[in-house]
Amino acid sequence: MNNKIHSVISDFEQEEELVAWLKKRFLDQKFIYIQQWAKYYYDAVDRRSKFVKWAYENDDFYYSFIEKHITKWEKIAIISLWCGDWRQEKETLRKLHQDWHSIDYFWVDYSQGMLDLAIKNLKDIPGKKEFIYADLTTKKFRQEVDMRTKWYDRRIFAFMGYTFASKNQTELWDSLFNLLWPEDYVWIDFCVRTEVSKKKDFEIFKRFEQFYLYEEDKLKSNLAPLELLNIPKDSWTLRMKVVNEDFTGSMLMIYYFAFDKSVTVSLRWDTIHIWEWQELYLMEMRIYSIEWFKKFLENHWFVNIDSYVEKTWEEIDKWQVLYKIGNKNN
Ligand SMILES: C[S@@+](CC[C@H](N)C(=O)[O-])C[C@H]1O[C@@H](n2cnc3c(N)ncnc32)[C@H](O)[C@@H]1O
Repeated sequence: MNNKIHSVISDFEQEEELVAWLKKRFLDQKFIYIQQWAKYYYDAVDRRSKFVKWAYENDDFYYSFIEKHITKWEKIAIISLWCGDWRQEKETLRKLHQDWHSIDYFWVDYSQGMLDLAIKNLKDIPGKKEFIYADLTTKKFRQEVDMRTKWYDRRIFAFMGYTFASKNQTELWDSLFNLLWPEDYVWIDFCVRTEVSKKKDFEIFKRFEQFYLYEEDKLKSNLAPLELLNIPKDSWTLRMKVVNEDFTGSMLMIYYFAFDKSVTVSLRWDTIHIWEWQELYLMEMRIYSIEWFKKFLENHWFVNIDSYVEKTWEEIDKWQVLYKIGNKNN
């Protein structure tokens, strides 16, 4: 039973999806972490965490959420969405296993490479472990997780490491809403602006520009889709632009490849021509404003159960929240 990966997608489907996104010149961020690029991502994180405080350093709050909102007799399933190598929840789970005996964990990721890293990381953690290789926005994933968690009293969907900020927000929250049962919790951390001002936004921009465009490890870890598609390195430059996303109240940073040479890509049954004037979107990153995002969630029928703000960097705080779904009019 231990270390079983339930595959809801196949490598073949993953490649087909990559082609479909490439045609739109808009790559979903999920293609960045597949295969060996999973390890490259954490090499960049490790290097970075020597210099700045990373998302996972304080796990006390995660633990206290459980203590405060769950009673010990409940049989709980914690479903870690976009788990990556799962380092950020490791210590929390270790503590939970010392004090609670009725918690089982499920790890979900779109990258088989990430699930392999998570399995290694979890070697010394006791308890039932199941891994789901899936895209969480799909109906197939919903069916899989419902079937595997049917007999639990409560499910907690954990979404940690600021990670969901790089996904289209309406797709993500609509998918989450449809995934949750009324008793479920969703347990998330966000990067939020300490203050909304041009000066602070510029500081955030500089921080993200430095990390994503100029740090070699990070750059290497972002090239998965281009290398999978055999796109030559001398045909593009990685750039970044910033806009305000009004409906989430966030500063939205968009990373894209600007082509200065034409390239032809052949994959599966498709041939795709990228012209030298085109842009290929790689990923997005958001820094939220608490008040606006609360409104966004309320209007998507998410109800706040608890929250906590912690200092991260000078211009960014970490906002940790527990939500459930509910009709705001009831
Ligand atoms: C930035 S990494 C963060 C991982 C981890 N939460 C952390 O903080 O270390 C994002 C992870 O989400 C996964 N992911 C992205 N989109 C996904 C999707 N639609 N469904 C499932 N996993 C996804 C990626 O494969 C990757 O492992």
